[in-house]
Amino acid sequence: MLGYLRLQLRFLLPLAAAMVVAAYVALPLIEKLTLRWFTRDISARAALVANALHDSTIDALASRDARRLVLLFDRTAQDERVFGIGLCGSDGGVFARSNAFPATLSCADAKQTAGLGDPRITLPGGAVLISRHPLAATENSEIGLEPTPELILLHDLSFIERRSLDTRRYLIAFLATLGFVVAIITMLVAQISWRGWIAGARALLRGDVVPVGPLAVRPELAPLAEELRGRLRQLEDEYRRARGPETGWTPERLRGLLHSELRGDEIIVVSNREPYIHDRDQQGVRVRRPASGLVTAIEPVMRACSGTWIAHGSGTADRDMVDLDDRVSVPPDHPMYSLRRIWLTPEEEQGYYYGFANEGLWPLCHVAHVRPVFRESDWEAYRAVNQRFADAVVEEARTEDPVVLVQDYHLALVPALVREKLPQATILTFWHIPWPNPESFGICPWRREILLGLLGSTILGFHTKFHCKNFLETVDRFIEARIEHEHSVVAVAERETFIESYPISIEWPHPTEGEWASPADCRHAVIGRLGFPEHAIIGLGVDRFDYTKGIVERLNAVERMLEKHPNLRGRFVFVQVASPTRSTLDEYRAFQQQVERIASRINARFGSGCYQPVVLLAEHHDHGQLIELYRAADICVVTSLHDGMNLVCKEFVASRDDEQGVLVLSRFAGAAREMHEALIVNPYHVEETADAIYRAARMSSGEQRERMISLRHTVRDFNVFRWAGRMLSDAARWRLRARVEERVRKHGLPEFDGR
Ligand code: F6P
Repeated sequence: MLGYLRLQLRFLLPLAAAMVVAAYVALPLIEKLTLRWFTRDISARAALVANALHDSTIDALASRDARRLVLLFDRTAQDERVFGIGLCGSDGGVFARSNAFPATLSCADAKQTAGLGDPRITLPGGAVLISRHPLAATENSEIGLEPTPELILLHDLSFIERRSLDTRRYLIAFLATLGFVVAIITMLVAQISWRGWIAGARALLRGDVVPVGPLAVRPELAPLAEELRGRLRQLEDEYRRARGPETGWTPERLRGLLHSELRGDEIIVVSNREPYIHDRDQQGVRVRRPASGLVTAIEPVMRACSGTWIAHGSGTADRDMVDLDDRVSVPPDHPMYSLRRIWLTPEEEQGYYYGFANEGLWPLCHVAHVRPVFRESDWEAYRAVNQRFADAVVEEARTEDPVVLVQDYHLALVPALVREKLPQATILTFWHIPWPNPESFGICPWRREILLGLLGSTILGFHTKFHCKNFLETVDRFIEARIEHEHSVVAVAERETFIESYPISIEWPHPTEGEWASPADCRHAVIGRLGFPEHAIIGLGVDRFDYTKGIVERLNAVERMLEKHPNLRGRFVFVQVASPTRSTLDEYRAFQQQVERIASRINARFGSGCYQPVVLLAEHHDHGQLIELYRAADICVVTSLHDGMNLVCKEFVASRDDEQGVLVLSRFAGAAREMHEALIVNPYHVEETADAIYRAARMSSGEQRERMISLRHTVRDFNVFRWAGRMLSDAARWRLRARVEERVRKHGLPEFDGR
């Protein structure tokens, strides 16, 4: 309310000031004018009065009857505007005067004043104006006097002052009313335009697309938004510069940190998904990199840090590639760290991975309107497999205090299980998916066990602060724990876990960057391979076939866009890469079929000849193939319904060293909190998403460049080495603290010798 009033005053005060200035300038001017008009009026009246008196005065003068003249003058002076009348004789003295004519006013003075530009004098009764009127001879009488006698008329000016006062009052009232009316109109107009303006500016800054209605993007705001965006970027840069060491993370720097702060301590990563899968086909053994954000992020860190990665060996040739201890060195062509494989029976995989992790925890944490399913048997399998992974960590540890990086929702019990065996270990757990609010998480029958399992960690990381907050609230709701909100620490039985947000990212620069074909060549190759028209506008989606990714919503938006913009039919093509995933689950199979149906529907509606607007590539693509698609695309569309971070958008940006291409990004992906230069959409809003894709399709190369440069700065500065570096620096701090505490516990405080 106060802010609103302040806003209104911004309009009212200048107006009020303008009105006061106007009054100051206008009033003296008007007074001058009034006086001039009245003086002219008085002079005309004076001539009339003198004419009327003329004959009678000459007669009385001829008979030298002064008394008659006085009577004549007094009668005439009864007029409210005539103050007094006098007759100056030929001797220069006052021959006769009316009662009010001052005795002190001599003929010489009166005549002299009457000849001035301003013929006014002030008498005790007020201001008077003097006029002189010489008498001339008439038919009947002859004056015969030299010099000619003159009538002196004194005109009362007090009525002018009275009228001037009235005029001033009316003028002030008029200006005040005018000011008030103008202020009200200005306020209304300002209010309406201010609201629209602010909404438009906000929409532009966010990169929202609102083509019609009160929140429509106003073209006149574009330069302003440009300016503001520039300013924000400048502030961001200043902020980054001020943070200094927070940026500029490289594999070398990460390695340096391990040696300096962690004194070369061993690193053990444990995750369900392995970074390299060995599969057997007709040609022999093939190595595959899984479509996994987790692998994309952790693998470069492991290459930088070495150590051991423990994961489920899921490839058909995995067993053939390991040594007697189930280890294989990877990457296969340039080994840098050790992969220890864990073998699961089909039943274990079914219960632990498909069942509890992906039918239970996955839908529980992604609020994507798919019901979580919790089965006792799945939980038992989950517990048993988590124990297997924890045992493997203990087996792999060469010291009693390794640094263990536990990954994701498949292994929520591992931190506490490792802690039991290796109490000195530094356990960093990262939860790669969203953490829901306590009400949603409360659905899980084993919520306490999951929370206590995770709180075996030294540090528990999420992508966003929001997920940290949800986690702390969940702990508060379901278990006995001390929560120090100001330090983001949870303590269970005096064991502390630090809860922090570490937004995950990708490798920058990518080691194969120098080998990438040019964007033009990539485009040429993709157009040729997929049979697109030469001038095609290529939209691209890259996901696992997962219902959380918003693929249905995305295709609906593509359909709506083609419906609204027939000019793009025959030109716009959308390539959806969808790697099959978890396909043994009904929900996933049904989802895949639904997507295929929608793609066919759109192609039937808008396709013609060899033009098919939607191309579904439902197969695994390796990194090289994805890079080619990213570099060929005009638009990359990420429409997750809920996503911890989403690394596809970062990979797309990293691949565009030509600074071209537009990113359309869901506001429900963690990445939306960092990648402000994308066109941010609500994927549930088909119209909005369709308009964003259309806007992206029409975006000028200059605007694409401007947005892409800023996005690339963000991904470069906040790369995965920074993510790991921040976690490991925090770990080093906690380790140091734990060591000091342990020493104090064992040996007591060192004595202070007073020196
Ligand atoms: O998003 C979390 C995550 O673990 C990702 O790393 C990966 O994309 C996915 O979930 C797991 O996929 P999968 O079940 O194929 O390992």
